[in-house]
Formats: sequence, structure tokens, C-alpha cells
Amino acid sequence: MKILVIGGGGREHALVWRLKQSASVEKIWCAPGNDGIAREATCIPLDLKSPVAAADLAANLGADLTIIGPELPLVLGVADEFASRGLALLGPAKSAARLEGSKIFAKRFLERHGIPTAVIYDIINKGQLFSASRAAPWPRVIKADGLCAGKGVLVTDSERQARAFIERLFDGKEFGDAGKQVLVEEALQGEELSYIILTDGEHFIPMAPARDHKRAYDNDQGPNTGGMGAYSTDSILPPALETEIVAKIVRPTLEGLRVEGIPYRGFLYFGLMLTAEGPKVLEYNCRLGDPETEAVLPRADFDFAEACRLAAVGTLAGFQANWRHGASVCVVIASEGYPVNPKMGAEIRGLEDAERVPGAVVFHAGTKREGSTFRTSGGRVLILSA
Ligand code: AMP
Ligand code: GLY
Repeated sequence: MKILVIGGGGREHALVWRLKQSASVEKIWCAPGNDGIAREATCIPLDLKSPVAAADLAANLGADLTIIGPELPLVLGVADEFASRGLALLGPAKSAARLEGSKIFAKRFLERHGIPTAVIYDIINKGQLFSASRAAPWPRVIKADGLCAGKGVLVTDSERQARAFIERLFDGKEFGDAGKQVLVEEALQGEELSYIILTDGEHFIPMAPARDHKRAYDNDQGPNTGGMGAYSTDSILPPALETEIVAKIVRPTLEGLRVEGIPYRGFLYFGLMLTAEGPKVLEYNCRLGDPETEAVLPRADFDFAEACRLAAVGTLAGFQANWRHGASVCVVIASEGYPVNPKMGAEIRGLEDAERVPGAVVFHAGTKREGSTFRTSGGRVLILSA
């Protein structure tokens, strides 16, 4: 099987690394990839905003399967473009990717299907006023409706902060159309869990459970980021909890999609809060998590490429996914100043030493090669997994 992976961060590096270990895989390309991925797969430039360019590339290469890493191409309809040309792709259609692309759509979907989630206090359209006088308690969570790369959510107990954040969302400079509508909801308390499934729309296999770490600094301090690290171990998901998550959240979601005529093939990420009242959905993502993937895939003990192929063609029934026992962890090495104003261009030393540590894998996210030297070229630079 010849596979094209779309994306160019640490998650896509982990995908390429795992896929290469499948006996059924003869060739892997990554578009656009990055200079670290280029050591393992042929990287090809690609504008992630163009579904047509992605489909042209897959067709020209003769890829048997295309796997989409990031949300943007999915929200823009890359799966629909591939389907219209009869090209095999793993990832949901535009109509289904709205579960991630619009938090208000996701919230309404959760409500329609009786799936546990935080209570909505308000939906505010640009130009409307934020009515802090409502009886709802603080802290509250303020969310931009659209895609904001992890920066569109504020949990606050300060009315002043809430107002200032909503003004920033509405002024359009930073968040564009993503901030045109704002959701205000209940702040849930508890520990978070990333529960990710691979589904053909009917059947699914769960990824090993993971928990990511979002604050930039040690001891849970500093701004929220796209993720500073993650770990995976079975003890964060006791069997009774998994049974409850599947019965109250996963099955009703797949059934809800089916009833609404929304086909879903791909990874579906349930961002959960484990509250005293049971698990509740914080968000859906229409893809694998980053950096959860870099922690989880090293535990995969099955033919991952075959599972992806079966999900893409709709025949995942009966597939058995085994996960290695024990624990895995990944740590993001970020540029100074991340996430607000990362400094780039610094030389990276010690890569080869890190790669020689038994059980460790180095995934590249924001690196650039100059001769034999790697330099930093993004906020999240490297992800070290073990
Ligand atoms: P989201 O983009 O919706 O995943 O939100 C990003 C992060 O904000 C989540 O991973 C949580 O840490 C936090 N968050 C989102 N919604 C809530 C909520 N209702 N209650 C508490 N924390 C939340
Ligand atoms: N690590 C959170 C996410 O991928 O959305």
C-alpha cells in the first residue's frame, strides 16, 4: 500500500513513523511534511488550505490511501473532494468536521442527542452585548465558535476578563470569522481525558487513553497552548469508566451522526472532563490529538496502516487493536516565548544522542535543516516520546 500523509507537525511525524512499521506499506509521502519527517518519507510541498491541490497530489502520486492529520483541510472539505474523484481518504466529510469546526454546532448536536456536556449559558453574535447579569455562576468558559488553534477558549471567574476576551474575539483581527459568534458555558471541574477512536462510521477501535498537558510552564502555570506533552497508560481509564464513556458518549455520537445522515470515517477525538457526575464532553475534534498521538502510537501493537485502510473503506468490523501494557509519555520541546511570541532560528544540539536512547523516539514539529544542522522554525519544535 502507498500512503500519503497530509500535515507537517509532530503528529504527522508519529503517523509516518508508525505506518512505516506496517508490513503492508511500501511507500510513504508526507505533504508538506517537515525536514525531520523528510528523513523517513518523501516530503512534497502542499497548501493545506486547498482540497483540490491535495486531491491532485494524491491522484498524481497514485496513492492508495491518504490520511489527513490536521483539522483545517477536513473543515475545508478535503474528504468531499477526494470522494467526488473516487480517491481513498481517511478523514470525515466537511459536514462531519463541523463537530470541530463549529463549537456551537457541536454543542447543539450534543444537546439534540442527550450526550453529557457543559450547560450553555449564552450564544452571543458579534455586535450583541455580553450580559454578565445572568444568574449563571462563575467561573464561566468563553469560546470562539470557529477554529482558533487552541487559543479561542478562556476559563475565567472575572467578568472584566470575559468582556475583554469577547471584545478581542469580535474585533476580528486575531481570530477573523472564527470569533464572529461566541459561546458561554458552564466551567466543568475534574480531570481531563482524551478518548480517541478510529471509526468507519459504525464500528470503531479506541486508541489507548491519553491525557495532555496544556499549560506552557511547569506546575500548571502559564498560558494555554496546543499541548506541551501527553501521557498514556491504562490506569487513567478503568474498565467501568470506559464502558460508561462508550455507552453515554461514543455510541450516542455515532448514532446521532447516522440519524442525521452525516457519514463519519476517520479519527474522532472526544475531549472529556471526568466530573463528579460522570464523564462530559468538552469538545470534539475530527482528527487525532497533537501531542496525544506522539504518546499513544508507540503503544500500538497492531497493523496500524491496515486499520486505517479498513476504516477508510468502511470495513473495520472485527478488527482487533492491541495496545502494549505499561505507560508512554511525550514531552514537547518548545521555543522560548511559545505560545505568544516564539523565538525561532536557534541551533538544535543533541538530536543524535536523544535518538540513541533505547525506547525513545524523536518527532519533529518545527525544525528546519541547514546543511547538517537543524534549527528551530516553530513554536513547538520537537516531541520526545518514550
Ligand atoms: P476546547 O478548545 O473546547 O478543547 O477547550 C480547550 C481547553 O479549555 C480544554 O481542554 C479544557 O482544558 C478547557 N475547557 C473547555 N471547555 C471547558 C469547560 N466547559 N469547563 C472547563 N474547562 C473547559
Ligand atoms: N492536544 C489537544 C488537541 O489536539 O486538540
